[in-house]
Amino acid sequence: MKGLTTALLVAGLGASTLLGAAPHQVSIEIQAQQSGPVINKDIYGQFAEHLGRGIYEGIWVGEDSPIPNTQGFRNDVVAALKAIQVPLVRWPGGCFADEYHWRDGIGPRDQRPVKVNTHWGGVEETNAFGTHEFFQFVELIGADAYVNGNLGSGTVQEMAEWMEYMTSDKNSTLANERRKNGREEPFEIAYFGIGNESWGCGGHMRPQYYVDLYRQYATFLKTPPGKRPKLVASGGHTEDTEWTEVLSANIHRDMDGISYHFYTLPTSDWQKKGEALGFDESMWLATLERTYRIDQYLRDNLAVLDKNDPDGKLAFYVDEWGTWYDPEPGREPGFLYQQNSLRDAVVTAVNFNIFHEHAKRVQMTNIAQMINVLQAMILTDKEKMILTPTYHVYGMYKVFQDATSVPFKIETGQYGNGDKSVPAVTASVAKGTDGKLYLALVNLDPNESATVGLKLNGIKASQAVGQILTADKMDAHNSFAQPEVVKPKAFSAKLSNLSLPAKSVVVAELK
Ligand code: AHR
Repeated sequence: MKGLTTALLVAGLGASTLLGAAPHQVSIEIQAQQSGPVINKDIYGQFAEHLGRGIYEGIWVGEDSPIPNTQGFRNDVVAALKAIQVPLVRWPGGCFADEYHWRDGIGPRDQRPVKVNTHWGGVEETNAFGTHEFFQFVELIGADAYVNGNLGSGTVQEMAEWMEYMTSDKNSTLANERRKNGREEPFEIAYFGIGNESWGCGGHMRPQYYVDLYRQYATFLKTPPGKRPKLVASGGHTEDTEWTEVLSANIHRDMDGISYHFYTLPTSDWQKKGEALGFDESMWLATLERTYRIDQYLRDNLAVLDKNDPDGKLAFYVDEWGTWYDPEPGREPGFLYQQNSLRDAVVTAVNFNIFHEHAKRVQMTNIAQMINVLQAMILTDKEKMILTPTYHVYGMYKVFQDATSVPFKIETGQYGNGDKSVPAVTASVAKGTDGKLYLALVNLDPNESATVGLKLNGIKASQAVGQILTADKMDAHNSFAQPEVVKPKAFSAKLSNLSLPAKSVVVAELK
């Protein structure tokens, strides 16, 4: 990969401070005749947990709801998710996965047991949304399924039987039970996770103990030939590399990748994370500085994989990431509902550009979470729905799904000060599946624009044509009263005069 990937040279060109200085001078040299790794479409995956109003109200309203729905799934949400081409949805958790018992969520809905969601708000879990509803939902939006199994409080038998129930094409009792419950054909599972955050809510295990459990559970996950999902081992988080080290050194079969979680808290303090809105510039910078750390954390973990798996068989899955703020006053704190602003949009684009750079191993990610929870694409208030700035970045970046990355070198100054700083501008370049060359740019500086000089090798182009997302205020956001404050606008510029406004995201075709 060396030599083909992005080189970030932070040579102090046009560096600005918190007070602002002059426009950043950025230069990008693109090798359009060369190819890097494919950017797996599953990098654009979503996460939907039984948490707050993420599933109930967010996706599922039931067939008798006055909210327009198709077989219980709200129509507005389904249409919005189809529009951004969601490739993959992870379900049922998260921490919830390790206390979820799949049999609670099958069969006639009025006979399903009501449980208590002890992780998230202590609310009643009706189990109205279970295995069949999940697959119906992903099929409705055209996505693949990532099912997360219960290692923490389940058994090997329970997990093995769930797999058989979902995938068997035989006349076994379990497969026939699935048929009796309305599904003749086996469900297709793209990924299956064996536990979640086993270092924490999934059982507070040591990686050495998890390794043996993983090997045992994975042994009994049987599927028809050619139908085995990619098996995901639950790995570490934040700066930790021990889980990646122990798992990759000790699991020699039935593991396609290791998961990893990283959350962006403005303060980096779990007791007081910071506000979703109404923050000042120091919190803007702190948020971006925190989010940008994932670049180094990925490098550290991928170096471990390169050592233990030099043939590159194992993928690295960032199956939870995104912003996590303090709960909104007056709301149930266990529901993790938060507003979403232009800052979240910039965080999203910065992360995409980093994931693209590591696309050889980072082959799947899931933002936490899809609707009404943490860094959501969509917020609902009963029958009302709004699209967040984060949603719009997913829409703008969909041209990168399964695109082939194109090597480039970027020279940019820093935004910030000595204590905390980040590159002022980050970028992605790739050839889309439509054969077109796409450039994504994000200006992290909320005050200064950036002048971008492009040197193109191997292609002739004179214009960048696409979309831009920006706004006047750092915390500009969409609300139910004003749903379209932040939304993409058309962008067109001559390459000889390419300028990026402060705090903006651009995705454009070079033509
Ligand atoms: O996304 C919310 C929670 O964060 C998930 O349930 C858990 O895996 C993580 O700690």
